[in-house]
Amino acid sequence: MAMCALIAILVLFLNRRVLGDQSEENLNYTFPEGFMFGAATSAYQIEGAWNVDGKGPSVWDNVSHNFPGYIIDNSTADEAALSYYLYKEDTKALKDMGITLFHWDTPQYLQDLGGWANEFIVKVFVEYARVVFKNFGDRRLMPTHDVKLGWFAEPIFGNGDFPEVMKKRVKDSSTKQGFPWSRLPEFSPEERQLVKGTYDYFALNHYTTNLVTPAQPKPQPSFLSDQGVQELLPWWLPASNTSKWLFVSPQGFRRLLRLIKQRYGDVQICITENGFADSGELEDEMKMTYIGTYMTEMYKAMYIDGVNVIGYTVWSVIDNMEWRAGYTSKFGLYHVNFTDPARPRIPKASSYMMKEITSTRKIPQKYVDLAATFSLDIRPKKNDLS
Ligand SMILES: *[C@@H]1O[C@H](CO)[C@@H](O)[C@H](O)[C@H]1NC(C)=O
Ligand SMILES: *[C@@H]1O[C@H](CO)[C@@H](O)[C@H](O)[C@H]1NC(C)=O
Ligand SMILES: *[C@@H]1O[C@H](CO)[C@@H](O)[C@H](O)[C@H]1NC(C)=O
Ligand SMILES: *[C@@H]1O[C@H](CO)[C@@H](O)[C@H](O)[C@H]1NC(C)=O
Ligand SMILES: *[C@@H]1O[C@H](CO)[C@@H](O)[C@H](O)[C@H]1NC(C)=O
Repeated sequence: MAMCALIAILVLFLNRRVLGDQSEENLNYTFPEGFMFGAATSAYQIEGAWNVDGKGPSVWDNVSHNFPGYIIDNSTADEAALSYYLYKEDTKALKDMGITLFHWDTPQYLQDLGGWANEFIVKVFVEYARVVFKNFGDRRLMPTHDVKLGWFAEPIFGNGDFPEVMKKRVKDSSTKQGFPWSRLPEFSPEERQLVKGTYDYFALNHYTTNLVTPAQPKPQPSFLSDQGVQELLPWWLPASNTSKWLFVSPQGFRRLLRLIKQRYGDVQICITENGFADSGELEDEMKMTYIGTYMTEMYKAMYIDGVNVIGYTVWSVIDNMEWRAGYTSKFGLYHVNFTDPARPRIPKASSYMMKEITSTRKIPQKYVDLAATFSLDIRPKKNDLS
């Protein structure tokens, strides 16, 4: 037994040495055995059947029904892609691409009790997770988090508390805004101990890279202002026509992965969402470029920088109700015609690309070459500044 353990440790050690010290010319862009590929989607955005089978309204049913103007095309997801009825087709699409799946939305009655700010929801959520994993655990269901990095990562992967800079900024702006204390709640020492280190892996949703410049706090409480920065749009980069915030910067992805390793060490990272919105075309060339070049830079992060990435999930399986962008923004690998009552699904070129990547486990050379053309970095070109 002891010998086995020793050998196992050596093998692990050797494996680790191989990843991470390679030079760019030697990379073969082939993913290791055991690397996971997935495609994600979320219930509200595709299911429809919003009031069927005893389902109560969620916070998103509430805003889409009662707050016209909040969603760009004033749409709802009452019917969406009818996946509640057509789920077998969606599962088949996933199988065809050789991919595994999965997101959620808060029931309105829990929101009325304070939602995520009420500790009670922890109990409810644990029960929900238990039911979900009991029924679907064998299907590799992956919960995902939206991450503005340090806010969530520092308590869990760092010292158990919010970042010092965040505590200071929110306190300073709260004072300037006339609050008697900081708007950011404080963790007690017990809570810090409880939260610190509670992870299985680092779940990262990533879409784009922004530039920021320092900014003074605003008179009104604001999430952006609390960060002490103003975001500048990197207008010189290609962007989605239908999600104007989505600028293509594969190098930004690699830098972010390196940063996570620098801050939190050799933690396993699973990319739980990454994707690009087209305008409805079946030959979704821009989406393929995006996915291929982002995967290329992720691969470099793994094999040159030694970042421990264990899986990649593309958003999303089929076109869906994209929150405030309604049905205008098409992230699907499959096209859905939302004006056809049958909601037919048609594979886009990107679905064939994903099928090729999951079956060969290799990034097609075309995208490796393309990634180099995005090269350089996220600073504006000189000409653009004049
Ligand atoms: C690709 O490179 C990795 C790392 O050097 C190596 O383990 C793997 O066997 C190579 N795969 C192929 C198909 O050449
Ligand atoms: C919808 O949301 C608003 C704002 O949070 C809340 O006041 C209202 O009670 C909700 N409506 C329903 C029907 O739950
Ligand atoms: C959505 O509803 C708002 C409020 O009624 C209206 O001002 C706006 O023109 C509508 N937009 C569309 C695209 O129908
Ligand atoms: C979307 O963007 C691409 C690339 O920037 C452009 O070629 C295309 O014409 C745009 N399509 C629409 C519908 O605006
Ligand atoms: C979508 O479906 C509607 C209704 O069946 C049909 O008129 C329209 O041509 C379809 N659009 C596309 C792009 O297939």
